Amino acid sequence: MDFQNKTAISTGAASGMGFLFAKNFAALGGNVLLCDVNEEGLEKCTAEINAMGKGTAASCLCDVRDYRQVCAARDRAVELFGRIDLLCNFAGGSSVRIKQVDRTRYPEFPDVPIEIFEWGLGVNLMGPFYFAHAVLKQMREQNSGLIINIGSISGQEGNAYDMDYPTAKAGLMFGLTKCIAQFGSKHNIRCVCVSPGPVLTRAAMAKMKTLLGRAADPQEIIDLILFVASDKGQFINGENIMIDGGRNAMERMKG
Ligand SMILES: NC(=O)c1ccc[n+]([C@@H]2O[C@H](COP(=O)([O-])OP(=O)(O)OC[C@H]3O[C@@H](n4cnc5c(N)ncnc54)[C@H](O)[C@@H]3O)[C@@H](O)[C@H]2O)c1
Repeated sequence: MDFQNKTAISTGAASGMGFLFAKNFAALGGNVLLCDVNEEGLEKCTAEINAMGKGTAASCLCDVRDYRQVCAARDRAVELFGRIDLLCNFAGGSSVRIKQVDRTRYPEFPDVPIEIFEWGLGVNLMGPFYFAHAVLKQMREQNSGLIINIGSISGQEGNAYDMDYPTAKAGLMFGLTKCIAQFGSKHNIRCVCVSPGPVLTRAAMAKMKTLLGRAADPQEIIDLILFVASDKGQFINGENIMIDGGRNAMERMKG
């Protein structure tokens, strides 16, 4: 695979899969703009990529819940690299986990303060929606581009407590991805959703069951994304691809 003269934006790129993708993309010659709210992490990750001496990395402090910041990130990518070939929406995560919601104090869904869910829907759903709106202007001008959304097995399974996360992920997997692909068909733009099961960006994910009896190495998810973006993946479009060790096929075995 060769991404020389290609530019990607990776959101949530100060850690986990967003960073790993940026590193892989640059190692294959591409230029990448890393976006995140974690300024210190951004600087460290960007420097690590540039130290490899392959593609160029730059960073942009960007809260994906803020449309103006999203447009500024798009503009920075174009200013630095002249184009945007690929947008990967990694920024996300479960709000009740990240906001450390106390389940003894807030035992059920309606007890959890609505602000927690507003944050979750903002990062996991509105962020990719805003980025699509901003970046598709540039991709339409270029008459080319690819947007990768990151879904989750949770979007298929649901959850009775932290409902924002599966709701948002299902919105990407079965809604936004198809919508963008339909719009993109006139403009040579593709959209694909990649939906992992448990991934070992956090050790705790090792406890989640899969048919293969293990969680994914983060590199396995990035390899699929790189394939979709590569010359060999050009016919994949408008689809949600589960990459979950078969967890989506476990329903009967769970009961
Ligand atoms: N790890 C898993 O098991 C798993 C499974 C399925 C799906 N996913 C999805 O994969 C994606 C990446 O997961 P990860 O495990 O690498 O996560 P991670 O927690 O390592 O990285 C998420 C990044 O998003 C950033 N972020 C949070 N809020 C933001 C905001 N408002 N604006 C910009 N950046 C923000 C964080 O600072 C962090 O750097 C997420 O969308 C997640 O939901 C993860």
